[in-house]
Amino acid sequence: MTAPVLEIHLSDSDAADALHRDVRIGLSADPKWLPPKWFYDARGSELFEQITMLPEYYPTRTERELLRRSAEEIADRIVVQGAVVDTLVELGSGSSEKTRLLLDALIANGSLRRFVPLDVSESALRGAMVAVAREYPGLAVHGVVGDFTQHLELLPAGQGGRRLVAFLGGTIGNLLPAERAGFVTALRAVLDPGELLLLGAGLVTDPAVMVPAYDDGAGVTAEFNRNVLRVLNRELGADFEVDVFDHVAVWDATHEWIEMRLRARRAMTVRLPRVGMTVHYAEGEEMRTEVSGKFRREGLGAELADAGFADHAWWTDPDDRFALVLAAAA
Ligand code: AVJ
Repeated sequence: MTAPVLEIHLSDSDAADALHRDVRIGLSADPKWLPPKWFYDARGSELFEQITMLPEYYPTRTERELLRRSAEEIADRIVVQGAVVDTLVELGSGSSEKTRLLLDALIANGSLRRFVPLDVSESALRGAMVAVAREYPGLAVHGVVGDFTQHLELLPAGQGGRRLVAFLGGTIGNLLPAERAGFVTALRAVLDPGELLLLGAGLVTDPAVMVPAYDDGAGVTAEFNRNVLRVLNRELGADFEVDVFDHVAVWDATHEWIEMRLRARRAMTVRLPRVGMTVHYAEGEEMRTEVSGKFRREGLGAELADAGFADHAWWTDPDDRFALVLAAAA
């Protein structure tokens, strides 16, 4: 077994600069907002893993089942298209738990040699790499600590064959529509024609199913949401009273996204010394911490086509809650 390689493109100082910038922009806006990527320190990544096991949180389980049923078909289709995939790249890889289903199918089809997970969370990435390297002794593992909205050009090239880029879990829904268009276009630009994308996306379904997935009875999602304030307290020396913020999850039917917010239970003044800000919250004020977009097949297909991805093949679960789409850089 070759030793796993870890490349760090998000130095601590880059991450600090990015956090400072996001906080300055988001907390001086009206309404206030913060980007979801700051949830994922070690504790936030663990809380997300707990979310994936909650009875209400159907996306992970649905996607896993879909991969279990379809991974072979996906691998076969790649072969039929004549692509020899030697590298599986996974964006926002987290624990890479479901990815094993893809690894198994691609290895069975014979050409996979390397796994390249990319994540902002170094702790999650290290854990995933160690486990995958141990379970797949013949596979080279090359992890990248980075941000998929900034570091796509730093992904290693294929090793003679093509790359399959997996972007699973519905994480694409965290991007706002303009960011999403920029991301898909940037991804297409770093791929060679014939290289592949496997995208996992949540579909628009019944709000009575979607909302509880983001507002579970055990309160794990609420803790995950409030964790961003703990990150700001630690990284910026801020003094958020974390427990005075309530978790809010709503379905925005206009934008077709779940929106998570933190609502100030009373008026508060928060100091953030390392960004030189003092921020006031009114009683009941809501701050947006995440959007989780849900898609319709026509809309998502059109976005992929516009960005230069062709030959779409779709797999969906029986309840039409989640989709996997395989597409090729045209
Ligand atoms: C990791 C972005 C796919 O949007 O469903 C889970 C994050 N937020 N519960 C999602 C999340 C609240 C999750 N993604």
